[in-house]
Amino acid sequence: MTKILVTGSAGLIGRQIVKDLVKENYDVYSCYNKLKSEFGIPMHLDLTKKNEIINIFDTIKPDVVIHLAALTDVEKCETQKEQAMLLNSTSTEILVKESVKQKAFFVYVSTDYVFDGGKGSKNENDIPNPVNFYGKSKLDGEIAVKNLSSSYAIIRTSTPFGIHSKKKSFPLWVKENLESKKEICVLIDQFTSPTFVPNLSKMIIEVATKQIMGIIHLAGSTRISRYEFAQMIAEKLHLDETLIIPITIKEMKWNAIRPVDSSLDISRANGILNHKPEKIQNSLDLLINQLNN
Ligand SMILES: NC(=O)c1ccc[n+]([C@@H]2O[C@H](COP(=O)([O-])OP(=O)(O)OC[C@H]3O[C@@H](n4cnc5c(N)ncnc54)[C@H](OP(=O)(O)O)[C@@H]3O)[C@@H](O)[C@H]2O)c1
Repeated sequence: MTKILVTGSAGLIGRQIVKDLVKENYDVYSCYNKLKSEFGIPMHLDLTKKNEIINIFDTIKPDVVIHLAALTDVEKCETQKEQAMLLNSTSTEILVKESVKQKAFFVYVSTDYVFDGGKGSKNENDIPNPVNFYGKSKLDGEIAVKNLSSSYAIIRTSTPFGIHSKKKSFPLWVKENLESKKEICVLIDQFTSPTFVPNLSKMIIEVATKQIMGIIHLAGSTRISRYEFAQMIAEKLHLDETLIIPITIKEMKWNAIRPVDSSLDISRANGILNHKPEKIQNSLDLLINQLNN
């Protein structure tokens, strides 16, 4: 039986992946630091402690590693650079080294934020150029994977959204505010490729279990601004669209610069995977369906 070790197993994306892997009868080791996973075999692992990583690998001897854990708060990464590097880059390096020792296939989940966002729809051959520290630390993680392993996939995704008890993703934030008749300010000049987590999970599992090598962009197939995305949500849920106030990136008082257009070209995934990137309309219908059941 294939043994799969997953880091960040109770996070927004990880929770769905371990749930789906267990359903497919894999041996799943769900690593967590603070929040214990509901699915798989829970294993405590603080990724800032090298010895804990080494011990886990010696105990489990995984065949496949799916590494999702990260410091994902873009603002925190800008102000806590050491912590961002430790988690997003250094711990990735140790995990890859242990995977190489165990001959495990290594899957690193990275981000659209490795790009500068000057021109959107980036493909796997485009050159990364991060504009904030989160993107830089994740790119350093990617470089460690490429330099140290010959059996890996680097997956880049964009604006994941889905249902999670602790992390409120964008559509649910829009829904809750509009239902309470609160105005929300939403960016008209930031474009991404929003990705429905259940769709992303299926694609990541396919890459991990078929051991598809190299960089692959796994994201939704629609490039859309935050503002249009919010309007689409309001329209589908019959909520008041006039409560959505357009604003620009310049008006935000952020420490970290955001890429303007970090949408991803998903042609490679479309060409080789059985599970295809979903269009935004379809993803939102599925999300609403989940919320109603
Ligand atoms: N969210 C996005 O917008 C986005 C966009 C593109 C790419 N990604 C990438 O996708 C991956 C998953 O993102 P996500 O949104 O699912 O993440 P998330 O919900 O923010 O979860 C982060 C995970 O990291 C774990 N973690 C943090 N510090 C840890 C430590 N010291 N030791 C062990 N685990 C630790 C957390 O575990 P505990 O709770 O147990 O501490 C948590 O499960 C990340 O690598 C991220 O860079 C995310």
